[in-house]
Amino acid sequence: IKNIAVLTSGGDAPGMNACIRAVVRTGIYHGKNMFGAVQGYQGLINNNIIPMNARSVSNILHMGGTILKTARCLEFKEDAGMEIAFKNLQEKEIDGLVVIGGDGTFTGAKRFGEKFGINVIGVPGTIDNDLYGSDFTLGYDTAINTVIEAIDKIRDTADSHDRLFFVEVMGRDSGCIALRSAIASGAEAVLLPERETSLKELITKLKAGASTKKSSSIVIVSEGNKYGGAYDIAKAVKRKFTHYDTKVTILGHLQRGGSPSGFDRILGSRLGFAATNALIAGESMKMVGLKGNKIGLTSLSEALSGLGNYKLEDDLLEMTHVLSI
Ligand code: F6P
Repeated sequence: IKNIAVLTSGGDAPGMNACIRAVVRTGIYHGKNMFGAVQGYQGLINNNIIPMNARSVSNILHMGGTILKTARCLEFKEDAGMEIAFKNLQEKEIDGLVVIGGDGTFTGAKRFGEKFGINVIGVPGTIDNDLYGSDFTLGYDTAINTVIEAIDKIRDTADSHDRLFFVEVMGRDSGCIALRSAIASGAEAVLLPERETSLKELITKLKAGASTKKSSSIVIVSEGNKYGGAYDIAKAVKRKFTHYDTKVTILGHLQRGGSPSGFDRILGSRLGFAATNALIAGESMKMVGLKGNKIGLTSLSEALSGLGNYKLEDDLLEMTHVLSI
């Protein structure tokens, strides 16, 4: 490996900058020429590939977002787009690629690597925590903390007014953010994409709380659950349960921003360092991940095939039910 490019793609996640810094500095330490593609795969296609040195990544460790910018690039899904991207990399003699992102990013990386034989290593960067091969993805910890901080504030006003709140959180098809934040914020119930809770069960739970003098209640709604958005669910519940005045809050994209937590800064640094070292050691088509506090490699296909509900811990869900009576 002579020249390495790093990019961030898909939804941004706190800790991506820590990871970019680690990739760039580890490469430079080993005498490689380092580049950054601006706006992910779009930057490869637009030839927006900039040289980076150790100072290009100074003072970014604490910053949310990504200094390289990101995009969900449709053009890269087409062969024509990939060919242009490859030609641009070839021109700069870039033979190694570190891609930081989620499932969409890895799907693109896998096809690109298979088609052109370029060496590619993935770093799991998504607040959703939905990739197989890493106990935690970059940005997930910060996102949970952001959600918890928001729900703490909602709890203050919910309790003051004796209200029932439905709070919608992100995660796409993964309920990881919802479940963890439900535990940490003491939510009365949580609706997840991976497990079915009927509206009847939900109402029974809320009624039980009201009958034991719970003055307010919070239900966390994961965006991918089967009943729809928080507004729909609030409406459906309200038709059958009128004990509380009901309100809805959708946390939305604020969950993706903010300064990364200590955990995500360290994780980003570890994963970036490991990704560059793996490329230099001749690895390719793999994702670096954290497994039981050790950095390991998983093939991109395996990382993608693990998408689904394997990460949702039933014991934690059971605990949430018990602790919220
Ligand atoms: O994958 C991260 C994520 O924030 C998901 O939780 C969410 O469903 C999606 O991205 C939102 O995407 P966009 O920012 O493109 O609206």
